[in-house]
Amino acid sequence: MASRWFIISLVLSLCTSLSISADVLSALTVDHRPRTETKVGSLGYRVADTLRVFTTRNKNCYHIDSVKKGRVLVRASFYYGNYDGKSLPPKFDLHFDGNFWTTVQTSNTEFYYYEVTCVLKKESISVCLAQTEPSQFPFISALEVRSLESSMYDYVNDSYPLLVWKRVAFGSKTVFRYQDDPYDRLWNVGGYGNGSIPVSGDAIFTKRPQLGPSQNRSFRIFKDNESYSEPIRPLYGNCVEMILDSAIAVSSNTTFSLVPTNVSTLPPLINALEIFRIPDDKLTDGTNKKDVEGLAALQERFSLLQSWAGDPCLPAPYTWDWIKCSLAPIPRVTELLLNGFGLSGSLPDFSSMDALQTIDVQNNSLGGPIPDFLGTFPNLKILNLANNQFNGSVPASMTAKKGLVLTVSGNPGLCTSNVTCHIPQANSSTNNNKMKNILELLFAAVIASIVIL
Ligand SMILES: *[C@@H]1O[C@H](CO)[C@@H](O)[C@H](O)[C@H]1NC(C)=O
Ligand SMILES: *[C@@H]1O[C@H](CO)[C@@H](O)[C@H](O)[C@H]1NC(C)=O
Ligand SMILES: *[C@@H]1O[C@H](CO)[C@@H](O)[C@H](O)[C@H]1NC(C)=O
Ligand SMILES: *[C@@H]1O[C@H](CO)[C@@H](O)[C@H](O)[C@H]1NC(C)=O
Ligand SMILES: *[C@@H]1O[C@H](CO)[C@@H](O)[C@H](O)[C@H]1NC(C)=O
Ligand SMILES: *[C@@H]1O[C@H](CO)[C@@H](O)[C@H](O)[C@H]1NC(C)=O
Ligand SMILES: *[C@@H]1O[C@H](CO)[C@@H](O)[C@H](O)[C@H]1NC(C)=O
Ligand SMILES: *[C@@H]1O[C@H](CO)[C@@H](O)[C@H](O)[C@H]1NC(C)=O
Ligand SMILES: *[C@@H]1O[C@H](CO)[C@@H](O)[C@H](O)[C@H]1NC(C)=O
Ligand SMILES: *[C@@H]1O[C@H](CO)[C@@H](O)[C@H](O)[C@H]1NC(C)=O
Repeated sequence: MASRWFIISLVLSLCTSLSISADVLSALTVDHRPRTETKVGSLGYRVADTLRVFTTRNKNCYHIDSVKKGRVLVRASFYYGNYDGKSLPPKFDLHFDGNFWTTVQTSNTEFYYYEVTCVLKKESISVCLAQTEPSQFPFISALEVRSLESSMYDYVNDSYPLLVWKRVAFGSKTVFRYQDDPYDRLWNVGGYGNGSIPVSGDAIFTKRPQLGPSQNRSFRIFKDNESYSEPIRPLYGNCVEMILDSAIAVSSNTTFSLVPTNVSTLPPLINALEIFRIPDDKLTDGTNKKDVEGLAALQERFSLLQSWAGDPCLPAPYTWDWIKCSLAPIPRVTELLLNGFGLSGSLPDFSSMDALQTIDVQNNSLGGPIPDFLGTFPNLKILNLANNQFNGSVPASMTAKKGLVLTVSGNPGLCTSNVTCHIPQANSSTNNNKMKNILELLFAAVIASIVIL
């Protein structure tokens, strides 16, 4: 699949032609060697000390609330470390807000992390782990969300996420993040080319020596042997940022080079580099709002359902276990499958879920009257309410509905065409008494007539 790529760059490294080879590593890794010191917050090694594993469900999600709208950075970290003693580092998928993010790679010894930045339209974000291989259980070591300035990376269409592929600070001897980077991005040690040297100063973009009048520094960025930029002339005290955008297809053999122009008397330089992958698919708007609303009503009523989070339908086929969805770009929930979930109480109003075709709530302890709205769903084909405690009568909207397969057996309190209505206690007893009186009268009349004969 072709992806769009681009790169931002620049500042220091003194060599004549610096080559950055685009290898196929999709995750950023950090050596996880035994620590001699625990430095919380400097590199984040500390987050690898513990993990959480998910052995049930095809998708497990974290819902993070109270995030500032706008651009955010999300970082998920994974250190397997052979915690289960099986030496089988699992493979599984990562999703955010209903979008496929990446396939997570793990290993016995390496610490992996993945970063995505995107623009949020709401004040929350969900991150899900999806099991993709039998008996390879997803786990996570750490999840971090940072707000960025909305002006950052604003040359990219907001409808697409940026998946961080490499972020390198050339010349740095250690990985750095907050406070060197106020946004807590992780900058890796740049080990490319040669002549990479540290410069004094504490910003990512540092000052360069003043050029003499006879000195020119000018270079171009090449992709393989094709020029991708006008000549770049870094000026003293200025920070130059180069953005290569517009559908650069890369492979594992692609090389980016900084090549001096023929008037340059000084070698090219670069300080930092970020490479992102932009997926072909734009950010999803998520499952239809009406369905999300209906599912929220069900979760509010039945606390047992509250442990399902993240987008209900997306990305396909990773829906919540108890629903099925259509495949539309904005999916609808078509099936509600709550057979034997141990639910009790009455059904809440989820009438907004009007794309439902199947509702199966059999085998619970649901009670009260059968809600009228169940019969109004235009596409409803199967409604199974069997083995519950529903009472009252079956609404006419259901009995009249053509093509609806309705099952209500096993609801002892329910009046159906087959089962005679249990008339409420208070009134049935007076009715019974009346009946008894009438029988006694008849009986008396018969006796009386016998007597007369
Ligand atoms: C961003 O991308 C979306 C979806 O591809 C497109 O509809 C929209 O016009 C783009 N916006 C800009 C400003 O290019
Ligand atoms: C390193 O620099 C030397 C001379 O400056 C050059 O000959 C060599 O090709 C460079 N190596 C790489 C990997 O760029
Ligand atoms: C430096 O570059 C400028 C403009 O490109 C040019 O006019 C000047 O002659 C160059 N100087 C040297 C020493 O090459
Ligand atoms: C580089 O250029 C040569 C000729 O100019 C061409 O034959 C070759 O395919 C190019 N290599 C790449 C990787 O584009
Ligand atoms: C990279 O180059 C090697 C040898 O030149 C070639 O066999 C391989 O197919 C290339 N890979 C890609 C992804 O182009
Ligand atoms: C430098 O390159 C330009 C084209 O990029 C060319 O027109 C010019 O003649 C070259 N100058 C020298 C001194 O080679
Ligand atoms: C009803 O639930 C019980 C236990 O939860 C289960 O054993 C039984 O198979 C279920 N019946 C149906 C029809 O699904
Ligand atoms: C139905 O059951 C509820 C309790 O679950 C009860 O309050 C209500 O009176 C019953 N209604 C009828 C018509 O039996
Ligand atoms: C009514 O009884 C018939 C025959 O016993 C059965 O087929 C049907 O499913 C029953 N209807 C309901 C609503 O229980
Ligand atoms: C009993 O029946 C009367 C009318 O026959 C009705 O007004 C009343 O609501 C009934 N009571 C109950 C508890 O259903």
